[in-house]
Amino acid sequence: MKNFIKSIAIVGVLCSSLASMNVMADEAVTAAPAGPTLYERIGGEKGTRAIVEDVWTNHTNNPIIKARFLYSDPVRVKQVVFEIFAVATGGDVEYTGMDLAERHSNMNISEMEFNAVVDDIMDALTKNNVAQKEQDEILAVLWATRPAIVNGNMTTQALTAK
Ligand code: HEM
Repeated sequence: MKNFIKSIAIVGVLCSSLASMNVMADEAVTAAPAGPTLYERIGGEKGTRAIVEDVWTNHTNNPIIKARFLYSDPVRVKQVVFEIFAVATGGDVEYTGMDLAERHSNMNISEMEFNAVVDDIMDALTKNNVAQKEQDEILAVLWATRPAIVNGNMTTQALTAK
């Protein structure tokens, strides 16, 4: 019985040291220096501005959405899109544009238009030699903006209306 209690005590000590090693390991992971941000990995300001330039060219040639930008000021749009792209990928840049949901809310944007915009962006990433891993991360960010952009009033009735 004495031996049994002794072994339980040893197991207890072992477990608690394993647990504290785990905590230490977690702390080590948290404290490890972060790698380059997504913004840095896609080439920082130079890379991002080049991507945004190609996104603009793609949008103005894309039959699904080009009419949306007929009366836009390209210099301003490219600047604010650069800013939001930079901020969303971890760049130390200030976004000076409007709130995304507010800006797009009265445009009645469809799923098809949203997908067209995403396709244009992905094409621009490929053209600028952005690797698949970074493309996947950017796609996830874009996808997260969908509820703020696409018309939330699209009902079954609207979709099936004849
Ligand atoms: C994919 C996610 C999208 C993001 C991150 C995004 C981002 C932006 C930003 C930052 C602005 C400028 C806001 C401002 O004026 O201060 C903007 C404006 C605009 N967006 Fe989007 N957008 C997205 C999707 C779309 C879609 C799907 C359409 C439909 C084709 C669209 C059409 C427009 C239009 C027409 C403007 C106004 C341009 C102007 O000021 O002349 N956007 N967007």
